[in-house]
Amino acid sequence: MKKQYTLITGASMGIGRALAEECAQRGRNVLMVALDGPELHLAASEIAQKYGVEAHPFGIDLTAVDAPLQVYTWSQDNGYNVDMLINNAGFGLGDIMDKVPIGVYQKMLRLNNQVMFELTYHFLPHLKQLDKAYILNSSSMEGLMPMPFKAAYTATKHFVTAFSLSLREELAETGVSVSALCPGPVVTNEDGLKRIQRSGRKAKLVVMYPHQVAPIAINGLFNGKRIIIPGVMNQLMIVLNNALPLGLRMKLLRKIGKGIIPKEEG
Ligand SMILES: NC(=O)c1ccc[n+]([C@@H]2O[C@H](COP(=O)([O-])OP(=O)(O)OC[C@H]3O[C@@H](n4cnc5c(N)ncnc54)[C@H](OP(=O)(O)O)[C@@H]3O)[C@@H](O)[C@H]2O)c1
Repeated sequence: MKKQYTLITGASMGIGRALAEECAQRGRNVLMVALDGPELHLAASEIAQKYGVEAHPFGIDLTAVDAPLQVYTWSQDNGYNVDMLINNAGFGLGDIMDKVPIGVYQKMLRLNNQVMFELTYHFLPHLKQLDKAYILNSSSMEGLMPMPFKAAYTATKHFVTAFSLSLREELAETGVSVSALCPGPVVTNEDGLKRIQRSGRKAKLVVMYPHQVAPIAINGLFNGKRIIIPGVMNQLMIVLNNALPLGLRMKLLRKIGKGIIPKEEG
């Protein structure tokens, strides 16, 4: 049987790295895509050594023109038979909409949406030929509820959720299963940790770490879940959110969103 590979974008750190580890722990070979740098190469060699699987790094700025096609070509040229695609690379920010330079938004829209879409587009014909294949797209809880003061980010994540749900149904008669991962806040770096430590008890109730999110994500993917929301508190929040009338819901979300705006220095 041909060897199979899981391709993960944004795999050098954060949730992507934890997903790569989780896959490797389950004996899956991993293809790790992120910006080129020592962190990516180190992460791949550590994973290969620790779990005894193949872990190949591919350093690229995914926002560059044709980068998704280059990733696909790289996997084809090397004979990597990808049966699981994890579109994880992405970033977000919260602020007054017009205070952030347009270039930052252009990068966010490209990475969070276009790159995910194009990678899926390139890999799909191959995935459809397999008896069983998986696509996991990193959305967010903010891909299920619109978040004021994060308008661009929340919109990119709604795109991811809608795309995943729709494509999943379109592929219902194939072996390809599509899931959207919708985490709440996940601490992936020192800044995030400090922010959580500064926020009150409520924030600490919903916050998770990448090593907690990853097994839930991969179990959910294998179990064919449409939407994967790690954490009971986060699941509860979505249920409550959906139960409220839209006007009230948005007022409450505005309060939460306001707390996200970075404080002026000095
Ligand atoms: N953290 C959260 O609270 C949270 C919550 C919900 C959803 N999410 C979503 O989960 C995903 C992962 O988030 P995270 O917090 O784990 O992110 P992270 O820690 O910032 O890691 C981002 C990863 O993406 C890579 N990356 C960034 N820009 C890239 C580019 N232009 N080209 C190639 N790779 C690039 C980074 O590579 P380098 O290491 O080389 O920079 C890194 O591997 C994102 O889609 C995010 O929106 C996160």
